[in-house]
Amino acid sequence: MNFSVIGLQWGDEGKGKIVDYISGNCAAVVRFNGGSNAGHTVVKDGKKYVFHLLPSGAARGKEMILASGVVVDPIILSEEIGKVFGKILIDSRCSVVTPYDKKLDEIIEEKRGSLALGTTRRGIGPSYAMRALRLEPRVCDILANDFNFEALATFYDMMHINGNLQEWIEYSRNVLKGIEGDSGARVVELNEKGEEVVFEGSQGSLLDIMHGSYPYVTSSHTLSTYIPLSLGLSKDIIGDTIGVMKCYATRVGSGPFPSEEKGVLAEEIRRIGNEYGATTGRARRIGWLDFVSLKYAVRMNGVKEVAITKVDVLSKIRQLKICRSYSVDGEEISDFFKAIPRLDDAKAELEEMDSLHGYDFSIGMKGALKKLIELIEEELKVSVRLVSYGEERSETFELSR
Ligand code: GDP
Ligand code: IMO
Ligand code: MG
Repeated sequence: MNFSVIGLQWGDEGKGKIVDYISGNCAAVVRFNGGSNAGHTVVKDGKKYVFHLLPSGAARGKEMILASGVVVDPIILSEEIGKVFGKILIDSRCSVVTPYDKKLDEIIEEKRGSLALGTTRRGIGPSYAMRALRLEPRVCDILANDFNFEALATFYDMMHINGNLQEWIEYSRNVLKGIEGDSGARVVELNEKGEEVVFEGSQGSLLDIMHGSYPYVTSSHTLSTYIPLSLGLSKDIIGDTIGVMKCYATRVGSGPFPSEEKGVLAEEIRRIGNEYGATTGRARRIGWLDFVSLKYAVRMNGVKEVAITKVDVLSKIRQLKICRSYSVDGEEISDFFKAIPRLDDAKAELEEMDSLHGYDFSIGMKGALKKLIELIEEELKVSVRLVSYGEERSETFELSR
């Protein structure tokens, strides 16, 4: 049975660690959305791996598959291929991020001024936009060597973005040659042999282009329902979805963040949790566990089981707050959908909980930690399957089903 791992917040929930933890018996790990804007961290025996484009199964030498909903940057791909062993398959239908896309990403951000989204500047938005305009080359186009780049170049020229792509095309062809294929067919083939596959989500549910905090979102879908579309298979392929959530919240980049904490306490959590972006190194904004948005994410992804990460961070701070409703211009809202048009004005109503300060993880799950797990299960109507209390694979509690 396949399964998927999806971020339930604004990204960086610890998806890489969880995928690594649970992929031991799987044949392959599949990325199905986004591109090198992702930064997924796996720590094994003190050694840290950060993957931007390849799936985190790379740390276990698993087969790595990029489905056609991923936008592929050949330069980043080449760097990552050099660091891993294991078979790699890139879907021939993936769009290829061009140097023009990266320039446009930067220019749009600069033109937005104070309203900049804080993108990763990896050309992700422009690449998906060029695909929608039917101007972007796919992996198979780069390899066929007969793609007409004129329309793309003319379009970019209108924005004064130009330059000869010939050298980049040659380079990309060398990187992509021999690793392209049909991601959906490969997953079906593995399943027919009785092998399991993990689908590794990138970004988080609230960054989904359609259902997230638009326009402060990424440019792809981030939800489990994008998996079958990305592979070109039917919905049955997804399997169970495990939602990954941090026991507080973070957000990197701009945009509304109702449960945001600022000041000394936020700085302390950022320092203890090492909350700096794995892709850009930017300081992540800090907030509290927000059940309003989590309920929305759980529903959209059909999540029945969750993995909770970073509870060790809570054991080093004296306070613990949660949010079950927002106040928007004096109105109380507990349905994220209703808050969407007014998210900028939404302020979390925070409740103080028993702190986990000084918690000793060698005793297992008792007291304040048990209470927190029970609260999460009750509020979200899910089972907590994994509790992560450190970045190492071994620092994980597994709850029996
Ligand atoms: P992803 O994008 O969802 O894969 O998450 P990132 O890798 O961007 O960020 C998560 C960070 O938290 C990484 O540095 C992980 O090594 C780290 N991490 C994951 N789980 C835990 C945990 O339980 N405790 C601590 N302290 N760090 C964790
Ligand atoms: P992982 O997979 C956190 C954010 C950016 C920005 C917005 C748009 O590691 O969880 P983009 O470059 O995608 O056009 O930027 O989305 N963002 C992420 N935030 N984790 C990520 O990935 C992210 N990928 C994009 O910071 O606010
Ligand atoms: Mg990340």
